[in-house]
Amino acid sequence: MTVAVDDTGVRARRAALTAIAAVEEGGAYSNLAVPEAVAGLPDARDRAFASHLAYDTLRWRGTLDWALGLVLTRPIGDVEAPLRRILHLGAVQLLRSGVPTPAAVSTSVALARSAVPAGRAKGAAGFVNGVLRNLARRLDDLPWPDPDVDPVQHLALTTAHPAWVVTDLLGRFGDADTRAILEADNDPPGLTLRVAGDRDRVLAELREAGIDATATATSPEGVRAPGADPRRLPAVAEGRATPQDEASMLVVRATRVAAGDHVLDLCSGPGGKATHLAAIVGASGSVTGVELHPHRARLVEETAARMGVAVDVRIGDATAPPLQGGEVFDVVLLDGPCTGLGTGRRRPEVRWRRQPEDVASLARLQRRMLDVAVERTRPGGHLTFSVCTWTAGETTEVVRDLLERAGDRVGLVEERQLRPDTDGTDGMYLATFRRR
Ligand SMILES: C[S@@+](CC[C@H](N)C(=O)[O-])C[C@H]1O[C@@H](n2cnc3c(N)ncnc32)[C@H](O)[C@@H]1O
Repeated sequence: MTVAVDDTGVRARRAALTAIAAVEEGGAYSNLAVPEAVAGLPDARDRAFASHLAYDTLRWRGTLDWALGLVLTRPIGDVEAPLRRILHLGAVQLLRSGVPTPAAVSTSVALARSAVPAGRAKGAAGFVNGVLRNLARRLDDLPWPDPDVDPVQHLALTTAHPAWVVTDLLGRFGDADTRAILEADNDPPGLTLRVAGDRDRVLAELREAGIDATATATSPEGVRAPGADPRRLPAVAEGRATPQDEASMLVVRATRVAAGDHVLDLCSGPGGKATHLAAIVGASGSVTGVELHPHRARLVEETAARMGVAVDVRIGDATAPPLQGGEVFDVVLLDGPCTGLGTGRRRPEVRWRRQPEDVASLARLQRRMLDVAVERTRPGGHLTFSVCTWTAGETTEVVRDLLERAGDRVGLVEERQLRPDTDGTDGMYLATFRRR
C-alpha cells in the first residue's frame, strides 16, 4: 500500500515528528513543543492524535529502543536521527497505540522517503518498512523480562522508566508503591490553575465555557480544568489565574507564610511560587526572589506584573545571594534545581535526559544552597526545601544531612513526598524546618 505524503494521517504523524525532534535535538520541553507542533493541523482529532503519539513516543523511548533492538541488525544509536525517530514513532503505534499494522507501517514509510535526500529515499523506505514489519510479526511473543527474575528491568520496560530510576524508587518506596508511582507518572494530568482572588468565580466561568472544572482536593486556591488550553482562558490573560500544579501550591502553604511576612525565594524562576508567596504576604510584607538565569528572572517579573503582585527579583547565585550581609527573613523557600523526575506526567522526556550522576551533583548544589537558606532564616522563622523529584539522593538524604550538619540550628517540622498516585499531583518533595 502506498500513502500520498499529503495524506492527513501522514500530516498528523509529521507534526508529531516535528515535536519529537524539537525535544530530542533542540532540547525543548514537550509540554511546550507538542502543542506548538500540532497547532497547524486543521482538525481537532488529528491534533489530539498527533499529541498523543508525540508524548507516547517520548515517554516509551526505552521500551521502543529495546523492542527495535530485537529486530535491528545494528545498534539503534547508529541509525541516523531522522530515521530513528520515524522508527520510534512507528514502533509506538505498533506496541502502544493500537494503530493497525498497515497504517503504522505505510505512514512511516512515507515519512522515511521524505526524511532523506531524494537519491536515498528508496533505501530509507525499504529499511523502515523491513524493520517495522519484522517488529509487527514479533508483537505477540516479545521476550518481556520475567518479574521474578529481573524485577527492575521488568518494571523499567513495562512502566516506561530508566532502570536506574526504578532501582532508586524501589529502595525508597518498595515494590507496590514504586509501580503505582511509575504508572501514575505516565498519566497526563490536565491543566491545574492557581486562582488569585475569587475561586468560585473562575470555577463558574470555566464551567460556562464547557470545561469540567473542579476545586483542587487540598489547596484552597487551586482549580482543575481538564482539557482546557491556558492560552485561551480570559482568567489567565487577565492575571486572575495562572497555570500551576497543586503540588507547588502545597509547597507554598507548607512554608507557613502569612500576611506581612518578609520572604526570600532563593531559586525563584519562573515565578510560580514567588508570585503565590507575594499574594499571601500582601502589601505589608515582601518577597525577594533570587534567580541565576536572567531570562528566568524576567519570567518572574512578567508573571508578577500580570498577577498584580510585587516581587523584588535579583539576578544572582543562591550559593552567594545578592543580599546585604546579615539580612534575614521570616520565611525562606529553597525550591532547588533538581532532576525534575516528578514532572514526568507533563514532560515524559525528562526521565531519559537525566543520568544517575545528575542526582549526586544536584544534591551537592542543594546542600550548599540549604546552608545559605539556614543562614538567611531569622530565629523563629521557617525554611522550606522543595524539589520536584523523588530520588532518595535529592530528598530524604539531603534533609538527613542538613539535620546532621545543622540540627542545633534547625528543627524539622514537616516532611512530605507528594505523589501522582496518592495526591493527584506532580511528584514533589518538601521539608519545612523551624530556625532555632
Ligand atoms: C525548580 S526551579 C524553581 C521554580 C520556581 N520556584 C517556581 O515555582 O516557579 C529552580 C530554579 O533555580 C534556578 N537556579 C539554578 N541554579 C541556581 C543558582 N545557583 N542560583 C539561583 N538560582 C538557580 C534555575 O534557573 C531555576 O529557575
